[in-house]
Amino acid sequence: MKHSAFSSVVLRALINGRNNCNRSGTAVATATVMPFMAAEMSRHCAGAGGLKRGFPCWKRMMASESLRSSVEANSTEKKEEEKKSEGNSLVASSYWGISRQKVTREDGTEWPWNCFMPWETYHSNLSIDLTKHHVPKNFLDKVAYRTVKLIRIPTDVFFKRQYGCRAMMLETVAAVPGMVGGMLLHLRSLRRFQHSGGWIKALLEEAENERMHLMTMVELVKPKWYERILVLVVQGVFFNAFFALYLLSPKLAHRVVGYLEEEAIHSYTEFLRDLESGAIENVPAPAIAIDYWRLPKDAKLKDVITVIRADEAHHRDVNHFASDIHFQGKELRDAPAPIGYH
Ligand SMILES: [Fe+2]
Ligand SMILES: [Fe+2]
Repeated sequence: MKHSAFSSVVLRALINGRNNCNRSGTAVATATVMPFMAAEMSRHCAGAGGLKRGFPCWKRMMASESLRSSVEANSTEKKEEEKKSEGNSLVASSYWGISRQKVTREDGTEWPWNCFMPWETYHSNLSIDLTKHHVPKNFLDKVAYRTVKLIRIPTDVFFKRQYGCRAMMLETVAAVPGMVGGMLLHLRSLRRFQHSGGWIKALLEEAENERMHLMTMVELVKPKWYERILVLVVQGVFFNAFFALYLLSPKLAHRVVGYLEEEAIHSYTEFLRDLESGAIENVPAPAIAIDYWRLPKDAKLKDVITVIRADEAHHRDVNHFASDIHFQGKELRDAPAPIGYH
């Protein structure tokens, strides 16, 4: 009777140990069961012949325990080794066992970026007209124009002529409208079972292009802690405000962005003026910019700002065009989107 009780406790202990895959769980189960085992053991051994027969009992018990723990340790080691080798294979292959294709530049050197690929790079169109201005024609145009001029005042006060810092901070805002517009058009396309005319792609391209401006600027200017907090607050306010505006009036939203881009061209022109006068040092271009805009290897900051300004001019035209389509009472999908212009 006592023997069978003991056997059942040992069996339970083994089952508990085996069923706990988690290592710490096994330790807890073993620790809980051990006092019961000891009590049962002393009762069993004492009843069956006292200390003389008790010793081999303990010995056997300890031997089976040490065997069990060594088996457990081995299996845990094995599992850890398997995990390690899994980890290594994840590093070797990039996508569930499919190795990353070898990407190189035209000169055969290895492509260092994962965030964009050679086929997404481009030569900026520098022939774009930088002086174009959409003259406000109606009430909404005037609201958009005045709003942007109003936003410019605190920006001028805060940044003054620190154009590097100013550009970095403003690019954190400039990359928002394309993403909001693209996202809302994407959702509309899903809801209405309609094509977008390419406008989802065009607006998301704009957002990505603006984000690359930011990734470039951040190589040159490191944000301070209070600027990071400012970005956090501004993004929270601007994203929600623009989201609501785009839902209510996409034509006003695109017009606002069009005027914001006109201001961006103006700011980058001032930036270039300071670079030419020597007020800002014309440092070598960041490597990311050289690859993204296919600039010469010895390109300077001035070359980077020149191509960014051309991008802003393109965004200006895209957004004024989008607003004009809405003003004609049409939907964006009625006019083919300007994809791949940058
Ligand atoms: Fe930008
Ligand atoms: Fe822009």
